[in-house]
Amino acid sequence: MKNKSIVPTQRERVMREDDFIVSKTDPRGIITYCNPIFIEFSGYAEAELLGAQHNIIRHPDMPRAAFKLVWDTIQAGKEVFAYVKNMSKDGGFYWVFAHITPDFGPGGQIVGYTSVRRCPKRSAIEAIAPVYAQMLAAERAAGAREAIAAGTQVLLDLLAKTGKSYEELVFSL
Ligand SMILES: Cc1cc2nc3c(=O)[nH]c(=O)nc-3n(C[C@H](O)[C@H](O)[C@H](O)COP(=O)(O)O)c2cc1C
Repeated sequence: MKNKSIVPTQRERVMREDDFIVSKTDPRGIITYCNPIFIEFSGYAEAELLGAQHNIIRHPDMPRAAFKLVWDTIQAGKEVFAYVKNMSKDGGFYWVFAHITPDFGPGGQIVGYTSVRRCPKRSAIEAIAPVYAQMLAAERAAGAREAIAAGTQVLLDLLAKTGKSYEELVFSL
């Protein structure tokens, strides 16, 4: 479970150009593997990560609708790219550009998911952070039950305004 007692701080860890932060999960999002760079950035020991829900590194600045989009896409058997602000064990944060893909078993069923994260461009973070802030504000204003719909609507309005698909928006940043 995510640790609600961690107080977020302004301490940022910045990914290096050639870093890859990798993790694998089971179909429910329970971490089954993470590489040494994941461990370094998250600040958790490997033993704390394996068997934990991936939301252990969820940052409260991330809108719920962003994760809904991720889960809807990967559960449909498709890849997804997303900018994500993560929270380390000490409350610090780190931005990643994540590629998440389903892992298929021999019968074609989804047996888990893999995420490989690279260093996002600063300009992309600067562009996406206000979008996420707007989504989060809409989610808070709407209340728990309507939050995801409200956050999603902010994103859909932006896509309609720019005439881009979600993928086009992500790769235009
Ligand atoms: C392979 C994989 C990687 C994920 N990586 C992250 C991540 O880096 N950060 C994150 O906050 N959530 C990540 N998630 C999503 C979490 O499972 C979860 O949906 C999210 O943290 C929101 O948590 P919540 O629904 O409890 O609020 C990942 C999920 C999968 C399947």
